[in-house]
Amino acid sequence: MIRHWHLGDDRQSLVLASFDNRLPETVYWGPALPEGESLETLSAVSRMDVTGGMVDENAAVSLCPEASQTFPGQAGLTARSRDGSPLAPAFRYESEAASEHGLTLVFADTALDLTLVFDLALTPDTSLLKLQTRLESADVIQVDWLAAPVLPVPAHTNEMIEFSGRWCAEFLTNRLPFAPGARVRDNRTGRTDHAHFPGLIVCNKATTNTAGEAFAFHYGWSGGHRMVAEELADGRRHIQFGHASASQAAGRHFVTAPLYATYAPGGFNGTAVRFQRHLRDHIVTGARTPRPVHYNCWEAVYFDHKLDELKAIASRAAELGAERFVLDDGWFGRRDDDTSSLGDWIIDARKYPDGLTPLISHVNALGLEFGIWFEPEMINEDSDLYRAHPDWVLGPTDQIRGRQQLVLDMAREDVRAYLYDQIAEVLKNNDIGYIKWDHNRVLPVVEAAQTDGVYQFLDRLRTDFPHVEIESCSSGGGRIDFGILERTQRVWLSDSNDALERQRIQHDAALFLPASVTGSHVGPRHCHTSGRTLDMRLRAWTAAQRHMGFEMDPRELTDDEAATLRKVTGWWKDNRNWMMHTDILRLDSPDPAIIAEQQLAGDGGRFVVFAALTRPSDQILPHPIRLTGLDPASIYRLTLANRDEAPRLSRGMPLLKTQDLQASGQYLMSHGVTLPWRFPETVFVLEGRRI
Ligand code: DGJ
Repeated sequence: MIRHWHLGDDRQSLVLASFDNRLPETVYWGPALPEGESLETLSAVSRMDVTGGMVDENAAVSLCPEASQTFPGQAGLTARSRDGSPLAPAFRYESEAASEHGLTLVFADTALDLTLVFDLALTPDTSLLKLQTRLESADVIQVDWLAAPVLPVPAHTNEMIEFSGRWCAEFLTNRLPFAPGARVRDNRTGRTDHAHFPGLIVCNKATTNTAGEAFAFHYGWSGGHRMVAEELADGRRHIQFGHASASQAAGRHFVTAPLYATYAPGGFNGTAVRFQRHLRDHIVTGARTPRPVHYNCWEAVYFDHKLDELKAIASRAAELGAERFVLDDGWFGRRDDDTSSLGDWIIDARKYPDGLTPLISHVNALGLEFGIWFEPEMINEDSDLYRAHPDWVLGPTDQIRGRQQLVLDMAREDVRAYLYDQIAEVLKNNDIGYIKWDHNRVLPVVEAAQTDGVYQFLDRLRTDFPHVEIESCSSGGGRIDFGILERTQRVWLSDSNDALERQRIQHDAALFLPASVTGSHVGPRHCHTSGRTLDMRLRAWTAAQRHMGFEMDPRELTDDEAATLRKVTGWWKDNRNWMMHTDILRLDSPDPAIIAEQQLAGDGGRFVVFAALTRPSDQILPHPIRLTGLDPASIYRLTLANRDEAPRLSRGMPLLKTQDLQASGQYLMSHGVTLPWRFPETVFVLEGRRI
């Protein structure tokens, strides 16, 4: 007997089938199937042949491949009974429920008293699948691995792009061929981490930013994930995502985080746009519009807080265009460096004898909102909190410290209650509209309960202080995922304020992140994390590509730099209302020295291209950059917004240096736009409108 289900829209179809009541398997995932396609036939035709040297039936790549079915690869569930003996369930169909865009499929192993539930949904406007697996057990069991619904990827996809990175170099992409065997990423850091963004894109060798097929996945969880991308010996391939292995305590109820997935043609932009839109329109809630220009004081003063200096900095930042002032680390306990005070969220009376009010009033009088830094999950041994509650620390006492700090056990009710009281006190007594929420070390043990505790705590604070926006920071981009972004409105993408580094990081992060959540700041002239000296034009335009902010001592700026920053900030303010809702489309540049993107308005009527030349080009003449996503038959007018930045060494007269260009979408996408010659470490900004 075959049961089948279809989840889809006009862009993609996912067809599942269950044979003889066994777990459902994907018999089709790809472009939308036409109406009238017989799912029965697709299911029947998915049965594969058997030959010599094989078992008599091919074990299914089901939504949870089962060891009990002689599955020849990584199973979707690894569990043990209370006495430690392995469980090998064989699930059979129980029931199902369908909603307009979702499906719940229930399977059970009655002998072991286990129920496996798959929750599958498709969000119609973004065409993103949201997939979760639940396991219920009558007895207490230990689950070492539970995969979110497992999806196969077809044989014609032969490459994958996965993510690594480090502090100041987040979202590094690795493009690897599939080969027999499993590529397993088991993130043991207990946080999302710089080195393990939980995403994967499966594609062809030929897939580019703008052309080809892609299947993209993201696991929305902040506690460390495990990914399996496996090619079985027989050639079938499948993708699994779940919590980091053995990170869940023994129990009766287990649930994965949502796995978001989508198939799209149109290259990496096809899947990227769906993730960007879904994050912006369905995951993030409560973000202020328009997005205010930030000023963050970290790289200006570090721990050296002096009220008068901070006031002067705020005044100067306001005059440059800032609209939100964020007081970073150093305002609480006796925090003069990073060795003490985490856990003591009491305003430091040495630095702020009259509390924060004098600074906040000053900032507010300038018309800026006030934001403040916390690192709630952490504790220093040199703190009153540690002296009172050394037992609140997560992990063994002899663990290696990280930035001289330990982690609080957020699974404990009393820890959360203490933190709530301390933080709520600061929020209640001060006019605070924003928290920068930091998390500066990996965890000593990997426990899902820690992340569940953090989520609970964040949810409570958000309910009680709904007007407070939160930024997720973890030494820069160490905690960026849809789980944390359900509770926050911005990410601090990286501690690198080096605009050249930032160009690369922003570009790769756009495979999943929209501009509206991605913080980007104009850093100091001499970059503190790379030692490079960078021009203000590069720094300012790079920040203007995302949610803009400043993070230098604004008093260091020359008049020229200040004028440039004011101009670019003004430009950003004039454009943010539409730019914060664009699709970021990565462009394929024939010159590898160029990082280019096109931010296209939802209605396609307007766009802006940012083309950064990150180093000298190998060839002397600039090559055309082909645009994307335009209507071939429409005419567009293009203006080089910063044509005044073309250097004197550009001696010719290419049209864009003096005039606007009017051309069809066809020309712009097929031939492309040639920009004037320029120096490296510059960004050209090309504004376009359909006329
Ligand atoms: C790490 C963050 O990424 C920085 O921006 C800053 O907030 C420091 N922590 C403060 O300790």
